[in-house]
Amino acid sequence: MAAKIIDGKAIAEQIRNEVRRETERLKAERGFVPGLAFILVGENPASQVYVRMKGKACEEAGFHSITERLPATVPEQVLLDKVAQFNNDPKIHGLLVQLPLPRHINEQKIIESIDPEKDVDGFHPINIGRLVIGLDTFKSCTPAGIQELLMRSGNDPSGKHVVVVGRSTIVGKPVANILLQKQAGANAVVTVAHTGATDLLPYTKSADILIVAVGKAEVITGEMLKEGAVVIDVGINRVEDLSAKSGYRIVGDVHFPSASEVAGAITPVPGGVGPMTIAMLLSNTLKAAKKVRASV
Ligand code: GUN
Repeated sequence: MAAKIIDGKAIAEQIRNEVRRETERLKAERGFVPGLAFILVGENPASQVYVRMKGKACEEAGFHSITERLPATVPEQVLLDKVAQFNNDPKIHGLLVQLPLPRHINEQKIIESIDPEKDVDGFHPINIGRLVIGLDTFKSCTPAGIQELLMRSGNDPSGKHVVVVGRSTIVGKPVANILLQKQAGANAVVTVAHTGATDLLPYTKSADILIVAVGKAEVITGEMLKEGAVVIDVGINRVEDLSAKSGYRIVGDVHFPSASEVAGAITPVPGGVGPMTIAMLLSNTLKAAKKVRASV
């Protein structure tokens, strides 16, 4: 039987509408506007597209947003000063430095210079630490988006065996930590499989919910799944396709045609996890803004 498709585009749209309505209410009732600043260093084409998309999403949500563009040659200290300026700007509630940064800049140092209360990416070690011990925090956007996708598609992870394939700092490690908390929307038994495993099969086969974030095209196939499993595909890979006008197409880390024959539900690529990342960024920024307002 063919799997149910988990429509990330529609779920992201729903969240963006909720954020927009709440922003309108805050504006009308309390006269304040959430603000998000982006810092974009250099000319990385993918980063430029992402920042443009995020800026547009802010506009649609009714946020105040600023994009600061700095040249690829910018000295690290100038970037640190810019971060400090936004850290001290009361109109800015969220601050995002788009990654990757040029090689001469210490990325970790920049992440750690962001005020943890404005770290809507959830990359600051303080926020990651808070996440691991189960305190309220900014969950990074893609992992938080995966949790929302599961809940809003009727696939509560509580009591389920969740297998995460991939241990990246941006997806694998945080999503595993989110889903194992003794909290609503979590409480799963979590296994993290990675390149250190001699054979992935016993792990993937035993997953009620399989989350794949390895960055390799179509490596998880239908025969590696348990019948009826929920499959969340975080991958975005370009593969050559001479029948496409562009000469390529985008596929996930999961081989969709075979996986959708075995899975109970599956996210498509594109249109699954991808759109959730921006939706959760807006949601985190709204949360940051409301927290500041509540405390003044
Ligand atoms: N580069 C790729 N994804 C992200 C993200 O979610 N946040 C930031 N800051 N940079 C990225």
